[in-house]
Amino acid sequence: MKAIIPAAGLGTRFLPVTRAVPKEMLPIGAKPALELIVEEAREAGAEEIAIVISPGKELIREYFKDCPGIKFAYQSEQKGLGHAVLQAAEAAGDADSVLILLGDAVVTGGCAAREMAQVSAANGGASVIGFERVPREKVSRYGIAKPAPGTPPGAKIFRVADLVEKPRPEEAPSDLAVAGRYILDSAIFGFLANQKKGYGGEIQLTDAIRRMISAQGARACMGCVYEGKRQDIGNPEGYFKALEAFHGHS
Ligand code: G1P
Repeated sequence: MKAIIPAAGLGTRFLPVTRAVPKEMLPIGAKPALELIVEEAREAGAEEIAIVISPGKELIREYFKDCPGIKFAYQSEQKGLGHAVLQAAEAAGDADSVLILLGDAVVTGGCAAREMAQVSAANGGASVIGFERVPREKVSRYGIAKPAPGTPPGAKIFRVADLVEKPRPEEAPSDLAVAGRYILDSAIFGFLANQKKGYGGEIQLTDAIRRMISAQGARACMGCVYEGKRQDIGNPEGYFKALEAFHGHS
């Protein structure tokens, strides 16, 4: 399996430090957050990893320059997460499926990607999306799943019938929020290539996945509420929580 880590965002929620240091390079102990994400990808079995950066984030390339198996792709315009992932299509090559780990989400207390790789293997190589449950009033910050009919309440592993990016609370099909980790059939690149703009005028990964599900059927896409806790290091508050959580586990 190959992995893609989108890390091209401008870090506007973490100014002014992100004028000098990409948010993904902020330290968690002695390691940059991004190195922990690279370690998670490797633990899940990814041998090659493509990191998507934007001009101005060369520090990331510099840091990883001697690491075998790490390539870089560029997103030169901020056109959304789906567009960022598409920039790594060539670097991801011809693998059957691709592991995507968002560069501003570190997971504490578990290896989400490995857990999801096990779910994929147990389901014939199906796509697997990592989820967390969120309070209703926060659903509009996330991609939200519609689990397949018959999914028991509280299920940790389920079939994904549909997804919606940042719905209003009254329109959300569940409280299951996409949590920064995906294992996707490499057919996703075909869907991303002609994906129209969605929420916020951006090319959304969520929208391309929902088209893939509609083409392949819900059997092809599983959801997994993973064990660990996603920490959003894209803003100071989330970053402090991540530091606390790591400290607690060390
Ligand atoms: C992205 C995805 C969203 C997901 C979130 C957290 O949103 O588009 O579906 O729930 O990451 O993993 P962003 O935080 O970039 O707005």
